[in-house]
Amino acid sequence: MLKIATIGGGSSYTPELIEGFIKRYDELPVSDIWLVDIEEGREKLEIVGALAKRMVEKAGVPINIHLTLDRREALEGADFVTTQFRVGLLDARVKDEKIPLKYGVIGQETNGPGGLFKALRTIPVMLDICEDMAEFCPDAWLINFTNPAGMVTEAVLRYGAVKKVIGLCNLPIHTKIRIAQVLGVEPERVYIQFAGLNHMVYGLNVFLDGENVTQKVLGILAGETSSDIDVKNIPDLGWEPDFIKALGVLPCPYHRYYYQTQKMLEEELEAVKKEGVRAEVVKKLEADLFELYKDPNLNVKPPQLEKRGGAYYSDAACNLIASIYNDRRDIQTVNVRNNGTIAGIPDDSAVEVNCVITKDGPQPIHVGALPVAVNGLVQQIKSFERTAIEAAVTGDYHKALLAMTINPLVPSDTIAKQILDDMLEAHKDYLPQFFSRAHS
Ligand code: G6P
Repeated sequence: MLKIATIGGGSSYTPELIEGFIKRYDELPVSDIWLVDIEEGREKLEIVGALAKRMVEKAGVPINIHLTLDRREALEGADFVTTQFRVGLLDARVKDEKIPLKYGVIGQETNGPGGLFKALRTIPVMLDICEDMAEFCPDAWLINFTNPAGMVTEAVLRYGAVKKVIGLCNLPIHTKIRIAQVLGVEPERVYIQFAGLNHMVYGLNVFLDGENVTQKVLGILAGETSSDIDVKNIPDLGWEPDFIKALGVLPCPYHRYYYQTQKMLEEELEAVKKEGVRAEVVKKLEADLFELYKDPNLNVKPPQLEKRGGAYYSDAACNLIASIYNDRRDIQTVNVRNNGTIAGIPDDSAVEVNCVITKDGPQPIHVGALPVAVNGLVQQIKSFERTAIEAAVTGDYHKALLAMTINPLVPSDTIAKQILDDMLEAHKDYLPQFFSRAHS
């Protein structure tokens, strides 16, 4: 019988996760799920926790749902720890997405200045969780869904008190399911050779029943139906068909910020005038979702949750846990220590690649050198990520400025410094590592 601890248990995504465990109960006998949150999340935890209890009752599975604000109690003896928290809640995301726009720079949750600041706020908290895990569940697997998932996972690999960490994103499984849909086939028949970094991952090859259909899929992506592939949180502005042909591999939706920077910026500036930044849209969606969750007659995951970008999150998380538990040795795309898998990336950095999932964790499948067309951008983002992680751990202003300036979405050193100073001030309550010296 298995114990799961979910940190950030009050998240609106929790019904996804509960549904995933219910569906897989026969192969994954989870006896206890501990949903843990902080005081500010108490109300959400109680609402979503009550829904989780109704869901398991309706499904008739003997899973006990526990709600707590005591992280250590939740971690004690856990077999798997899943993390899905947001330091500073959605208000911090609003700032991440809005402030860069003042300087004519993309404002995004996990990319550019927003991604940098989400990393700076999140990494110290994750390292604290690792300390608790080392004490209360040293053998547990940490399944991290907290964004920026690649950087947070790498921070644990390099600086964490525990090392059994796997970073997870819904994007690879989402892409596979959507491509299968546009090809009109079952997802099991599609295999995509993913390689890169989180939110910077490419499909190097796409296979259908073993036949390489990459060119066909690139043709679809370049055409009318591409919106069927993208995620809900990123506007689909189409692709320049000849560019997709030249690129030769499948980009992910986040690549739009790099290959279509100007258009995406204009789109964001337009959206701000209407519905607001994505975090503001999500705030409204969340308010509606929690109203639904309160309904005592609701006992399944409501379809409205699919308006969020994290669709298929539960499939990604629960498939991974089930494969580790059952030593299934299937292939899934996760964030792991590079260890030479992708050439030119340090061994101790996190990469997002296909892995064979065994009882000893993910075994990455060798990639080697990435195609020239994409290698440069991946390497540059990895330099940004490594520097950002070091800034998060040390609170070193110069490292943070370096990370901001080398990010390809930031146009100059001067603008980088202006955005950095503005955002440090805006987020200072959640960045003690940068301010403790000034306070003491
Ligand atoms: C995508 C990403 C996730 C991200 C989500 C945001 O699917 O892969 O990492 O959390 O979108 O969705 P939201 O609805 O919060 O904008």
